[in-house]
Amino acid sequence: MTQPSDASHNPAQEQPLQDRVENRSHRPSSDAFKAFMGSQWQEVEAIDFQPDAAAPYAAQRRAAVSRQFPTDRLVIPAGAPKVRSNDTDYRFRPHSAFAHLTGLGVDHEPEAVLVMQPVAEGSGDDGSNHEATLFFRPLAGRDSEEFYSNTKTGEFWVGPVPTLKELNQRTGLPTKDLTELEYAVTVDAGVVEIGGTRIRLVRETDQNMDALVDTSRINTGVDLEISDALDGELAEFLSELRLIKDEHEIAEMCGSVESTIRGFEDIVRAIPQATKHDRGERVIETAFFARARLEGNDLGYDTIAAAGNNATVLHWIRNTGQVKEGDLVLVDAGVEADSLYTADITRTLPVSGTFTEIQAKIYNAVLEAADAALAAAKPGVLFRDIHLTAMEVLAQHLSDWGILPVSVEEALSAEGQQHRRWMPHGTSHHLGLDVHDCAQARREMYLDAPLRPGMIFTIEPGLYFKNEDLAIPAEFRGIGVRIEDDILVTQDGAESLSAHLPRTVQEIESWMAQVWNS
Ligand code: GLY
Ligand code: MN
Ligand code: MN
Repeated sequence: MTQPSDASHNPAQEQPLQDRVENRSHRPSSDAFKAFMGSQWQEVEAIDFQPDAAAPYAAQRRAAVSRQFPTDRLVIPAGAPKVRSNDTDYRFRPHSAFAHLTGLGVDHEPEAVLVMQPVAEGSGDDGSNHEATLFFRPLAGRDSEEFYSNTKTGEFWVGPVPTLKELNQRTGLPTKDLTELEYAVTVDAGVVEIGGTRIRLVRETDQNMDALVDTSRINTGVDLEISDALDGELAEFLSELRLIKDEHEIAEMCGSVESTIRGFEDIVRAIPQATKHDRGERVIETAFFARARLEGNDLGYDTIAAAGNNATVLHWIRNTGQVKEGDLVLVDAGVEADSLYTADITRTLPVSGTFTEIQAKIYNAVLEAADAALAAAKPGVLFRDIHLTAMEVLAQHLSDWGILPVSVEEALSAEGQQHRRWMPHGTSHHLGLDVHDCAQARREMYLDAPLRPGMIFTIEPGLYFKNEDLAIPAEFRGIGVRIEDDILVTQDGAESLSAHLPRTVQEIESWMAQVWNS
């Protein structure tokens, strides 16, 4: 078929592509409509808000940041919404550094930015060296066009958002409209040696902020490469600041763990239904998801619901598999609270309610490794030694089973590591606002650092024997086991926050029987 040719006809010029998103709707634009829409709405109620429980803790964290960078302007964006498809965004979640320094969780506030402005030494907030201000787009008046016409920010579309007064009262921070942000970020910015103010930015969180700061740097002759390194130091410090959790954070983590434990009970209850469904793993995944949304903000990360051989795929999040009687199902899941702190727990459960002999043998080896790692955890012990302790136990079992091709000593040496074929991931990671928390911390502050009270991390050894693995006896194949608990370092030891979720073979079997019979 031929198209009529018309060289002068250019549809893209008649209506620019970016305007076509409106072609599916029919929004009135008459002055009469606008005047009517802007009238006869009840006033927004003037409520006084109490400070958030997190507010004083967030203030202490900002004071620590101020001490570290006493003369620099610090810019910490919440981030912009991320497109999921076309004009549909993912549900917004602020950057964890922003949440940590403001105490705000849930969906606050797309495009918000915390700016810490350096002032004369000791004359800032609480005697610090900075005055912090929270910039965000506040609730638009009901007489504004934004109220009914902006699909991303208008109250008519997305519901109420806070006013400047609300977030000021809740956070204790002065608040300003986003329209004042550009000036606050760029005023007097420049080369320090000639009297300019140095900016440090949490990068790659909000492209507009990256562009604003980069443009300011270029315009004022600030070296971009050096600035990148300075920004990196800020990210590193903010990550390391989260290595030790304060009492508010510990309480939030306990809440996330409790919700997650209830979610695991939902999982057990869903298993009989899962065995009847073609995508039984999804039955398990969605049972947990309901708990996460009902009690918290969301999942802390995509749930792994992995039955049979899928349990040997470390990041199995497709969850499309069947859940068959006689198999194990490994579930790794965490509820993220409204405060954005997440748990990260794994249990490996027998689909039929009882472990077979070989399943129990493998399970008990992993359990012994987890218990040994927990017993080793106390202040002063190196983070890396938790992993080594677990590896010693697993290597010994692999050797006893005749699977390890070398001696335990040789496997555990740096030149060996053969046991890692069946346990290729780390045993522990810090946990908090991010599931893999403190990810920008230096090695000497993380892996090589001594444990300190207030640290929260996982202990999660596993053994993964794939169907395709010809290095093991057939009876081991198609079995994956991981046991993951969330551990708090105390003054003289460590405690598992998730210890009361059944984890021995016997506890699990009686728990499943009890849930199914209730
Ligand atoms: N589910 C991610 C992890 O356990 O680290
Ligand atoms: Mn996990
Ligand atoms: Mn984990």
